[in-house]
Amino acid sequence: MTSIQSTTTAPSDISAGEASSRSGFSSRMGFVMAAAGSAVGLGNIWGFPTQAAQNGGAAFLLVYLIMVVVLAYPMLVAELTIGRLAKKNPIAALSSLSEKPLWRKSGILAGIAGITTLSLILSFYAIIAGWLIAFMIEPLARMAGMPEVADWLINFSTARNMTMMAVFILLTTYIVKNGVSNGIEAWSKKLMPMLFILLIALAGYIVTLPGAEVGLKMYLVPDFSRILEPSLLVSAMGQAFFSLSIGTCAIMAYGSYLSEKENLPKTAGIVATLDTSVAVLAGLLILPAMTVAQANGVAIYGNDGTLLSSDTLVFTVLPALFNNMGSIGSIVAVAFFALMTIAALTSSISMLEAPVNTACEYLDQPRPKMALVTGSIIALISAIIILNFGELFGFVITLTTVYAQPILAMAFGLLLTWVLHRDRLLKELKKGHPELEQGLFWKIWPWYVKFICPVMMLMVFI
Ligand code: PHE
Repeated sequence: MTSIQSTTTAPSDISAGEASSRSGFSSRMGFVMAAAGSAVGLGNIWGFPTQAAQNGGAAFLLVYLIMVVVLAYPMLVAELTIGRLAKKNPIAALSSLSEKPLWRKSGILAGIAGITTLSLILSFYAIIAGWLIAFMIEPLARMAGMPEVADWLINFSTARNMTMMAVFILLTTYIVKNGVSNGIEAWSKKLMPMLFILLIALAGYIVTLPGAEVGLKMYLVPDFSRILEPSLLVSAMGQAFFSLSIGTCAIMAYGSYLSEKENLPKTAGIVATLDTSVAVLAGLLILPAMTVAQANGVAIYGNDGTLLSSDTLVFTVLPALFNNMGSIGSIVAVAFFALMTIAALTSSISMLEAPVNTACEYLDQPRPKMALVTGSIIALISAIIILNFGELFGFVITLTTVYAQPILAMAFGLLLTWVLHRDRLLKELKKGHPELEQGLFWKIWPWYVKFICPVMMLMVFI
């Protein structure tokens, strides 16, 4: 465990946050919980299992694991390194990698694109998370004898979507307003263990129910014929990037609060392992739950024989299953949607942190005020999406997660390895890991991020 880290921005550097003293994570455990909290989200518990089910089960799992190791992990180290190196908000950090005006401008541009992407991701994420909160309280409202409220909560309406989105953004803003160690770290340390316990308990329960074995087979028996399908490769890459929160500045902002005593490659490895374990574990919950629902007479395949879309699965199939389970069903439903809400919240705080930190440092304003202003702007964007749901919802998701995230991740990696002087990079990575140069990591990683990652990403895209 390391002690509290407090650094002051060097006055000669970029104009942002001249006088602001930055507090940081108080311990490695705190950082790991917060970064794993950012990574573990709806992408793991919802996206990964349903994508696996649609793309050849364990074949997808295998490709996904390869993508995490060969592409996402190296990029995760890159983003963390940029953050810790600069100890500034992402825009200032990306622009401080070189003294040359062209590179500084490119850094600013990449930072602005990253913060914009992140804000847009939060604006659609908050809508989905709002539904999750609604589905979590619905069984409670029904038990309390308020059927109209319960119905309102689970029926799609603009009023419901707006209200619940606002509730979720308020929760997120409240945590971020309290700062890094008292807000983000404290809450991540409370919520992440709860998430693990709920996930294990629910998966343990669901796999004992009749019909679960079909789902387990679907998940664990690979259909290798699909392994080279281009759509599988692109989905697995996108999923890996989304799941590790890469290409958005979220992890970069967290990295800027990480102590210099920490070993960056190792810390990133712990975060990636935790994230991947939760995704794999969530598959043991979601897929069996779907086939248990099927055994209960709930349809999980559409007319064309393919699996229903992931939102239908979560918001229609699973609630139908919980309804069929009798009195224990309500408890399972509350636990399931609580699990999803917690996962969403620990991710959303990392999404809000980067823009809030950027606003605080550039405008030299106090955090609570900037948290409120930024939270309101994002709520406004969410509201615009809700009011134009058919046109905007899917569009924003595709734009940010399919295109912006991989492209930005590549840009960050290139800025770090081509623009930053190699000695500075080495010096930064050696902090917390003095014997770095002798190890395999330093021999491979810089070249890898410089040449191989961009080529691989382009190949997958093409
Ligand atoms: N990694 C989160 C998830 O799996 C989503 C996320 C994306 C969080 C981008 C932060 C930044 O749901």
